[in-house]
Amino acid sequence: MDSYAAATVDLGGYRALDPLQLSESEILKRIYDKEDPMPPLDADKQLTESERDQIHKWVLSGGEYQVHWAFEAPVKPQVATVAGVHFNPIDAFIENRLQEQGGRILSRSRPGSFSPSSLTDSDGAATGSSIPSGLPVGQGSWGL
Ligand code: HEM
Repeated sequence: MDSYAAATVDLGGYRALDPLQLSESEILKRIYDKEDPMPPLDADKQLTESERDQIHKWVLSGGEYQVHWAFEAPVKPQVATVAGVHFNPIDAFIENRLQEQGGRILSRSRPGSFSPSSLTDSDGAATGSSIPSGLPVGQGSWGL
């Protein structure tokens, strides 16, 4: 199950994930099997009904997945070129994301003097508030 290729390989008349007959996938049989269930009966973690439902839906929807990110070799991303940003590469990534979401960095703060008032809202006006409205709150974009 580490890779899509391994999950879909012919295991002698059946496949953990059968892309041509999704509902015949061994995964589906085994997560409901009383005799030989997966995870095994003595496994520390068992599936809940809602997890079984999720796996079921995922398989029937095609069961596609990518290799786990931990097995992907890191690739150095190209630093975005963003008009008006001449600070450092991290600023360029942040500015790029902010622009996609309707905000932007107004000016550079001196190190140690970060102030929310240096950020603008989506109309370009300085917000001055502690949580600028141009920034998406609660979407992980505060990982500065
Ligand atoms: C949601 C969790 C799991 C799913 C969907 C799953 C699914 C499957 C499937 C479809 C097979 C058959 C593939 C084949 O015949 O080669 C299999 C085999 C196997 N699985 Fe799992 N598995 C799960 C969790 C686990 C866990 C937690 C363990 C060990 C603690 C485990 C141990 C094994 C072993 C030893 C086999 C090969 C022997 C056999 O077919 O019984 N599996 N699993």
